[in-house]
Amino acid sequence: MLAIKTILKYLIGTFLVIQLIQVDIDTDTKADKSLEIQAPAKVMAILKKSCYDCHSYEVNLPWYSYVAPFSWSVSRHVDLGRQWVNFSIWNSYTDEQKDKKLGEFYKAVYLAMPLAGYVKMHPEADLTKEERTYLREWTGKAPF
Ligand code: HEC
Repeated sequence: MLAIKTILKYLIGTFLVIQLIQVDIDTDTKADKSLEIQAPAKVMAILKKSCYDCHSYEVNLPWYSYVAPFSWSVSRHVDLGRQWVNFSIWNSYTDEQKDKKLGEFYKAVYLAMPLAGYVKMHPEADLTKEERTYLREWTGKAPF
């Protein structure tokens, strides 16, 4: 029994200590609305439902995104996600960049997006096969 108590103490202690490692998820930056991507309503609905939490300046942060170690993961995904494609500033990309990003959609939407761990926490963000096909066809890009 003593062992379990000691282990618990260490676990709780570690949990409390890692709360000191705070990460900053940028929720202050707001882009000019004119820079936001413009797409048919159905595409916008899909992007907002399944992609905006990591690929825009409009992120909905759940309570656990403030609790380490989840906060580390959320902040990494949002930072990285925005670097790859940020729908809030889509119109600031050059035509060449847009074209390249749309090309990546195909692979991303079929293989990786939204991220599996995220879908576990947000089942409503998962895409149906029909939505994936719709999104892909909207990009006008050929497979791989
Ligand atoms: C939970 C956060 C999250 C969500 C939700 C999400 N993404 Fe991503 N996305 C990322 C991260 C992180 C990367 C960077 C890739 C990596 O490092 O694995 C990325 C990369 C990408 C890329 C570039 C991929 C490549 O390999 O070239 C595209 C395109 C993309 N996402 C599109 C989308 C679309 C479309 C959606 C919605 C259907 C979406 N993402 C939802 C986090 C997310």
